[in-house]
Amino acid sequence: MTEYITLSRFIIEEQRKHPEATGEFSSLFTDIATASKIVYREVNRAGIAEILGGTGSVNVFGEEVQKLDEFALKTFIGVLSRGGYLAGMASEETASVIKIPDDVPKGKYLFAFDPLDGSSNIDVNVSVGTIFGIWKKKDGDGDATEEDFMQPGSEMVAAGYVIYGSSAMLVYTTGQGVHGFTLDPSVGEFILSHHDIKIPEKGKIYSANEGYYNRWSEAIRKFVEYIKEEDKGTGRPYSARYIGSLVSDFHRNLLKGGIFFYPADAKHPKGKLRLLYEAAPLSFIIEQAGGAATDGRRRILDIVPESLHHRTPLVIGSKRDVETFGEFMEKYGG
Ligand code: AHG
Ligand code: MN
Ligand code: MN
Repeated sequence: MTEYITLSRFIIEEQRKHPEATGEFSSLFTDIATASKIVYREVNRAGIAEILGGTGSVNVFGEEVQKLDEFALKTFIGVLSRGGYLAGMASEETASVIKIPDDVPKGKYLFAFDPLDGSSNIDVNVSVGTIFGIWKKKDGDGDATEEDFMQPGSEMVAAGYVIYGSSAMLVYTTGQGVHGFTLDPSVGEFILSHHDIKIPEKGKIYSANEGYYNRWSEAIRKFVEYIKEEDKGTGRPYSARYIGSLVSDFHRNLLKGGIFFYPADAKHPKGKLRLLYEAAPLSFIIEQAGGAATDGRRRILDIVPESLHHRTPLVIGSKRDVETFGEFMEKYGG
């Protein structure tokens, strides 16, 4: 590899374009990278270390917390909460805002994250990941409240995810394009491997859990039937690819093109995925990569969360495919 651009070097060079930037942002990202490496090491040992299976406790959604969920949560809190750049943290695994320790100076950033996405796949060796979104506290200093987090995705200053797969990759945006870094375990550095990622305008892949087909609205069923029709001219039928880890399904579609949708259904009237730390961060990324993200109708980045754990339907991926999905929703009153 000719240029060996580490994540920290890339961030510092990006920061130089914003003279007003303080070092806080780059130290936040350095710490995100550190926490990710620690989680990746544990994911890699999952089969060996006593880290598989459930903890026996349930989270605010009534889902059993997996040991790796808890490990990832504690690792990100442990590494980031003492950096002095955060006013508070919010996570899928904690009911309310995670407080920054009293002896640590409060910063201006708000960090919302899904510590381990794809938990159902942990014990079967399928890729999992961490998803995060970063906002700025709007008013005043000191500790963040839940109210401070009630900002639309369009106000995010950065978003990213780490995918713990055959290699560890960190993908992020600060609104200057989407960049991917692959961990070189021999030196423990995330190295720039995908500069300025762009998603194909139209894809040939769709990702959804068709097990719920009978719970979907007529509009969604019509869309699925449409993309399964034989029509060479419009690249149909699409291929079905769904592995049940949002971060992995998203990453594949980002690189190859395609559409992921987890719509509302009879059992999940607001959808299953969470706006603050799953849908909004990935929507910032997809728009920066030239794609689109809606809840079937509205742009995800325009939606103001009503709570930390606000659920939303999510339709995300290649722009043309998301538009076609929206046309079916319009036509059939989805
Ligand atoms: P998490 O493990 O953080 O709870 O997220 C799981 C999500 C997402 O990763 C995935 O797309 C979706 O749940 C899968 O849900 P189904 O099993 O209902 O398809
Ligand atoms: Mn998740
Ligand atoms: Mn999770």
